[in-house]
Amino acid sequence: MNIRPAKVIDVKKIYSLVNHYADNKEMLHRSLNAIYENIQEFVVLEYENTIVGCGALHVSWSDLAEVKALAVSESFKGKGFGRKIVEKLHENAKYLGIEKVFTLTFKPEFFKKLGYSVIPKETLPHKIWSECVNCHLFPDCGEVPLMISMQ
Ligand SMILES: CC(C)(COP(=O)(O)OP(=O)(O)OC[C@H]1O[C@@H](n2cnc3c(N)ncnc32)[C@H](O)[C@@H]1OP(=O)(O)O)[C@@H](O)C(=O)NCCC(=O)NCCS
Repeated sequence: MNIRPAKVIDVKKIYSLVNHYADNKEMLHRSLNAIYENIQEFVVLEYENTIVGCGALHVSWSDLAEVKALAVSESFKGKGFGRKIVEKLHENAKYLGIEKVFTLTFKPEFFKKLGYSVIPKETLPHKIWSECVNCHLFPDCGEVPLMISMQ
């Protein structure tokens, strides 16, 4: 098992992992364009030379970043890979000097296991919600906001 920064050659695999779950309404859809433009935010998890997981860290502000687009292939769930990807994104956050990481998710229980706590969405900067305005699920997407300290 190896987690590494994503490359452009990985984009189609990331696209299919994320959109498979988005089709099942477990996360939000992401376009190829959005993945290419933000490829430097992504890590991929390889198992026996195949990409079976991905995740991204998006910096929002001087002290805040978001874990996004986290997905582990169906047949590799429950092996600790999701946790490993989030831990790698936390490592990247710490390297960048980020103090707090949040996520907006339909799977709050998974993130609670990793030390996140549910927060009132109003405590997130307005900037985050202004991005949500462009989503077709706004304002009732049902995603739960959670946060963890990097300190
Ligand atoms: C959510 C997801 C990333 C978890 O990945 P995973 O590799 O299966 O999870 P892990 O094996 O690392 O699990 C870590 C811990 O969380 C728990 N867990 C995993 N998925 C969970 C869930 N949906 N609900 C509650 N707990 C969960 C595990 O039991 C494990 O607990 P333990 O440490 O006590 O054994 C994966 O199921 C997935 O890709 N789901 C579809 C996409 C999605 O929902 N993405 C995240 C939100 S946007």
